[in-house]
Formats: sequence, C-alpha cells, structure tokens
Amino acid sequence: MVDKVKKIWLEGELVDWDEARVHVLTHSLHYGLGAFEGIRAYRRSDGRTAIFRLREHIDRLLDTCKLVFTMPRFTRAQIMDACSLVVRENGMDEAYLRPLVYVGDGAMGVYAPDNPIRTMIVAWRWGTYLGKDALEQGIRTKISSWSRHHLHVGLPRAKMMGQYTNSTLAKREARMAGYDEAILLDTSGQVCEGSGENIFIVKNGRLYTPPLSLSILAGVTRDTIITLAREEGIPVSEESIIRDQLYLADEAFFTGTAAEVTPIREVDNRAIGEGKIGPITKRLQQRYFDAVKGSDDAHPEWLTFLR
Ligand SMILES: Cc1ncc(COP(=O)(O)O)c(C=O)c1O
Repeated sequence: MVDKVKKIWLEGELVDWDEARVHVLTHSLHYGLGAFEGIRAYRRSDGRTAIFRLREHIDRLLDTCKLVFTMPRFTRAQIMDACSLVVRENGMDEAYLRPLVYVGDGAMGVYAPDNPIRTMIVAWRWGTYLGKDALEQGIRTKISSWSRHHLHVGLPRAKMMGQYTNSTLAKREARMAGYDEAILLDTSGQVCEGSGENIFIVKNGRLYTPPLSLSILAGVTRDTIITLAREEGIPVSEESIIRDQLYLADEAFFTGTAAEVTPIREVDNRAIGEGKIGPITKRLQQRYFDAVKGSDDAHPEWLTFLR
C-alpha cells in the first residue's frame, strides 16, 4: 500500500490526496494511451534533498508524449518545477515521483483526438523496490514466457502506460512461480530487460548491456551506470546478449530508478557467478549510491536540489 501524503499536483494545482480523482470515462483508463515517469528524490549525505536526473526524466516524458500524441499543456520547466513543489509541499526529504500525462474523458472509442490531455504528479515514500535484502543478497529471476514487444508492435523509446500490461504479465508470472523478477527476451531470443529494469552482465571484467536498437527502455539509470563504469575504467559494450550468455555470466544486475542497482544471483535456477553480489556489481552499486545520495558531486548536472 502506498502511504498517503498531503498533496497531489493535478493540472497545475496542489489538491488534497483524497480529492485527486478521475472520471471513470477517462480515455487512458480504457485504452492505455499516455505517458508516465518514475523519478527518485534522495536525501544526500549533507542533509539536502536532490531529485536525481530530473531533466532527463522529464525529457523522456515529453518524448513519450510526442510519440503517442499526448502533448501536455505544461512546459518542461513547469513540470520540473511542479516535481520539486510536490516533494517540498509534502515535507518529504526522500520520495518516488510519478508524473503522468493521460487522455481525459470526453469522447469514447480509440480515436478521440480532442479529449483533454491532463497531467498529474504524485510523490510517495518508496523503499527498496525488489525486496528488503535484494540490494545486498541479489534476486532470483526467471526468463519470461512473454516476449518484449516486437518493434512493429510497440514504441520502446516510450514509457507509455499501455505497454506495461506486458511487464505486469511477466512480473506476475515470475512471482507466482516463486521468483523475484522476470527477464524478457524479444521475439528473436535476444535478452531485453526486466519488467521494470534494464539488465547488465559482467564477463571477464567487461560490462555488457543490450543496445538501444532492441526493444528496451532507454533507462536513465542504465545511462548513469554506463557513465560511472567508464569513469571506473570498466569497459562497456552495448551489444546483443543471448540466453546462454546470461546463464554463463560472471555477474548480472538490474538497473532502474525504482530497482536502483540490484544484483541478480540466479537465472532459471542457475547460479550467476558465485550466486551472490559480484565485485564489479558491488563497485558500481556503491558508485551509484554515492552519486544519488552520497557525497559524490562529480555530476552536479544530475542533481536538482530542493533546499
Ligand atoms: C521496462 C523498463 N525498463 C527499464 C527501466 C529503467 O529505467 P530508468 O532507469 O529510467 O528508471 C524501467 C523503469 O522505468 C522500465 O519500466
């Protein structure tokens, strides 16, 4: 359950949590067209709160809106300011932020080009996404029987609501089978990503992650990890990975705003490496936490401070 905070930003105004309602004929509720983001604000070691890579997340939100014809009436700057406002006005020092741009009520039927495009931003407190011990112990994963959308079926650059039925089915299948998370391949068998995370493997000291030409979300955390790995002198290849390479990896981990840097200790009942967090994963996880909430100020452009 999400713990209530006081206010939600809806269409340019802060409204009480319980008043932030939508009509049952909201178009997006029926047909899934619309854009959303997941962003974290962290309390840093100096006590100040910063939203991590806000600009990149809002750029991706607006890219999604462009891809699916749901441009909001607010500018990038207004949405970014509203994200800061929601965290500040709720008196939060850490938060998960969920901006969402959706098609409101009016006409029904899939076309409905003139329905209003509405924007909301909610913040809540969200701990470790994949479970309490996931960051230290790693998680057990299963290759999904569901494929990632073929490039002719979806829009991988879009963080679009409707596409998440695919993630939800994969996640539920994995959890119901006793695993923590699903790994989705595409229709030709290339490894793509988790239900809500990008994936990396380590083999012989080199980091590999699927390229953006496959059906994967262009993760902000993925980009952060590639940058940090290169700074650490770890070579990175963005290239296709097949299932066998995954099983035989020395290390593997997921990245995502929610999942942060979560080690994968098992894929389809095969231990990855020694079946625990590996040294390169550990180093990059540490660098990541230093960047988002530690004292690493090497990338001031990644931080939007609240106070
Ligand atoms: C399907 C999918 N892949 C990858 C990611 C990771 O993206 P990011 O690092 O920008 O949160 C997410 C999370 O938004 C996701 O939903």
